[in-house]
Amino acid sequence: MRRAPLIIAVDGPAASGKGTIARALAREYGLPHLDTGKLYRAVGLAVRLAGGDPADAVRAEAHARSLDTALLDDPDLMSSANAENASIVSAHPGVRAALLDRQRAFAAQLPGAVLDGRDIGTVIAPHAHAKLFVTASPEERARRRHAELVRGGDDRDLLSVLADIAARDARDSNRAAAPLHRADDAALLDTTELAIDSAVQRAIALVAAAVARTG
Ligand code: DC
Repeated sequence: MRRAPLIIAVDGPAASGKGTIARALAREYGLPHLDTGKLYRAVGLAVRLAGGDPADAVRAEAHARSLDTALLDDPDLMSSANAENASIVSAHPGVRAALLDRQRAFAAQLPGAVLDGRDIGTVIAPHAHAKLFVTASPEERARRRHAELVRGGDDRDLLSVLADIAARDARDSNRAAAPLHRADDAALLDTTELAIDSAVQRAIALVAAAVARTG
């Protein structure tokens, strides 16, 4: 049994493949996994369900402080509309502060944890043993998200999905509080040209190398 938790941080923009990669790493290392985007999505959904505006920082922070975890299983959590709500509430520093301890406590459990999000390697777990920054071109990410929507019976066109992804990238990267950016010590994994199985294999190799160095 490890005496210090093994922390694996996976960050990257929407539809980069980071969620699939983080889940595969969790299986590989036998560790629990937290998709931190779901926390922001739950806050965005809570604000909307209460009839509020996600841009209202005071209201969003109040929902983040008394997070209704039942919303993590809500069927609307992962919808495109709620992704937008999540991106808006996540720019409020008070919302980020309210969700910080929960994420750090998850990272601190033994024997370790895999977390994915936007600021895991930079803010939540800057001392993580392995950090990956997973990315792909906006066009490829839009193509993947569009295919996912089509499979789910949603007939939105590719260009509108690309516009949403570009807007979310801009908001998540340009906000003042914990913006999306690659940590200096994060390994870059560009999945644009990779099938998901190859991306996972590459991620496992990068993490093994980082753990051998730091673990
Ligand atoms: O990973 P996702 O697409 O489910 O995330 C939804 C939004 O939540 C994303 O646009 C930005 C925000 N988010 C964040 O700011 N920090 C995180 N660690 C995870 C997500």
